[in-house]
Amino acid sequence: MGSEPIWRLLLCLAISGAAGTDPPTTAPTAERRWQPTDIVLDCFLVTENRHQGAFASSGDRERALLVLKQVPVQDDGSLEGITDFEGSTETKHDSPVIFEASVDLVQIPQAEALLHADCSGKAVTCEISQYFFKARQEATLEKAHWFISNMQVSRGGPGVSMVMKTLGDAETGAVWHPTLNLPLSPQGTVKTEVEFQVTSETQTLSHLLGSSVSLHCSFSMAPGLVLTAVEWRLQHKGSGQLIYSWKTGQGQAKRKGATLEPEQLLRAGNASLTLPNLALKDEGNYICQVSTPLYQAQQVMLLSILAPPKVQLNLENKDKLPSLICNIAGYYPLDVAVTWIREELGGIPAQVSGASFSNIRKSMTGTYSISSMVTAEPGPTGATYICQVTHVSLEEPLTVSMRVLPNTEQSGAFGVIFASIVFLSALLFLGLHRQQASSSRSIRTMRHSG
Ligand SMILES: *[C@@H]1O[C@H](CO)[C@@H](O)[C@H](O)[C@H]1NC(C)=O
Repeated sequence: MGSEPIWRLLLCLAISGAAGTDPPTTAPTAERRWQPTDIVLDCFLVTENRHQGAFASSGDRERALLVLKQVPVQDDGSLEGITDFEGSTETKHDSPVIFEASVDLVQIPQAEALLHADCSGKAVTCEISQYFFKARQEATLEKAHWFISNMQVSRGGPGVSMVMKTLGDAETGAVWHPTLNLPLSPQGTVKTEVEFQVTSETQTLSHLLGSSVSLHCSFSMAPGLVLTAVEWRLQHKGSGQLIYSWKTGQGQAKRKGATLEPEQLLRAGNASLTLPNLALKDEGNYICQVSTPLYQAQQVMLLSILAPPKVQLNLENKDKLPSLICNIAGYYPLDVAVTWIREELGGIPAQVSGASFSNIRKSMTGTYSISSMVTAEPGPTGATYICQVTHVSLEEPLTVSMRVLPNTEQSGAFGVIFASIVFLSALLFLGLHRQQASSSRSIRTMRHSG
């Protein structure tokens, strides 16, 4: 990425500068206003002929620029100094093809996320390809070309898919693009208008087992287009199923309790799906497909289900070998890490090695359970043992502790002073909302067969 457009760098500087020097006293009327802004994205143009081969090789992708023209974005002052994109009249042989897209006919609700992605350390991937119609349409008799561009903001950011139609007739003497077989504008760009777009707010979600989720999907279309169908599908481990279908005014849930609000759909272009009482079988990739008679576009989002473990610590005193058993129950997904810590009164806590593990047990609902054991060594004054469990569903590790006293009286009478369970449900809840941040944390996998 050596050739980052300079405007982008300037934009990030402008934003960080505005954030750094923003005393509220000097900006009492710092209200946000809508400012039309050009958004420039680095894209790939897929130039393979779909009718020739099943898969495009990397050789079939070339660099392209996509300029979303005059998109209204909220300006808090940071957009000042951002100049609009200007094409170059002298098109070099190897310069990327530039698509200009007018968004006057549709709304792009996630435009700001696309604009600010670079500055927030996220990346936007953008791919443009020719749009192929499902069936031969009257519109294809027009002297226009259609493209579809798919934009995704990394790290669970939003996704936008939009259909662009080329504008304008070829002037005599116009330069033609060598591979696209299209006339270029005097500025050397391909001028298009966005006629249809489908957006999702996020591409990855994690929710608790048993909770309900709203899967976001919205669309916007040019005047004259009508909505004909919305379909939600779930794809998981190679198999697909229909979850909800809405066709010309009729909604039908194929998954129990799935709802889509027709009012929201028709008035606000909101095709969000609500799923109550999440089970593990609800996990997978959800595809929201929106259709008009002419166009069809979709968004894909991955839903993960989480179940936090319940942790309990017990002392067992079998065979004159007292041991502590940490029971970790009802968690999902499988990966969990267990750490044992031993602390003598007034001493420093030390990690205990040599813990053993039970088999992993699977419950009817699909959640897992496991036990971890260590030998209890109270020492002369007694010791506190802590079982610490780390799991992707937890914002902080769960800890359970127990104090073990030395054997003073007859054999086998280990004294237990207290056992406390720190079950921070509030943190748990918080943890889910910050799930994306914590899911990248490395977690040791534990698969013991003994
Ligand atoms: C879309 O509809 C869902 C309910 O189906 C609602 O929860 C959500 O807030 C709506 N989104 C917007 C942006 O209106």
